[in-house]
Amino acid sequence: MPTPNIKREDLATNLLPPTWASHAISEVVISPKALHERVKELGNLITEDYRGRPPLLIGVLKGASSFMTDLSQSIHLTVEIDYMAVASYGTATKSSGIVRIVKDLDLDLTDRHVLVVEDIVDSGLTLSYLNRYLKTRKPASVEVCALLVKEGQQRAKLDLKYIGFTIPEGFVVGYGLDINEKFRNLDGIWRLKIGYESKI
Ligand code: IMP
Ligand code: MG
Repeated sequence: MPTPNIKREDLATNLLPPTWASHAISEVVISPKALHERVKELGNLITEDYRGRPPLLIGVLKGASSFMTDLSQSIHLTVEIDYMAVASYGTATKSSGIVRIVKDLDLDLTDRHVLVVEDIVDSGLTLSYLNRYLKTRKPASVEVCALLVKEGQQRAKLDLKYIGFTIPEGFVVGYGLDINEKFRNLDGIWRLKIGYESKI
């Protein structure tokens, strides 16, 4: 499956940040329109791949919340949905890979086809921890659908079945992704202003 690869020169320049966020974000990385279209495409792919064996979708809170809502509505199967919350130690913009489970799953994974719905894969350390953890629950299969993957950043080897977009290095917010809990409510994916991190 070809993954749209967002390069610097493809950045949409015609969209301005909303005024309430313009102190923190610079340019749009993925416009709301491109984002919503791609989420629909991913939903269609998953619908085809999982026909006859509806998946159990596991969202990783809080970042994947917007993506989970839209993606699940684009999957035309009787999916079930559960959430986990993890806290990963590190700074506001870098995870250390040491992950603590803050909210565990409610549903039993035994013999289920699990599809992990993740907002963004940076180093890959969080996801690789989760993968190992989920496999101990005896699912029939575990696959990953990541909305965003940062180019060239992965320190853990991962097998990602579905990828929304590959984006260049740099911190992004919006559509569920935050910096210190803010800007999750932006539609689209936006680049954080250089230096913003040091001002908070
Ligand atoms: P990883 O363990 O380095 O792959 O980081 C994964 C987690 O860090 C993601 O699930 C996000 O919650 C967070 N993260 C990584 N990069 C970004 C970003 O650019 N914006 C917002 N959150 C991010
Ligand atoms: Mg996350």
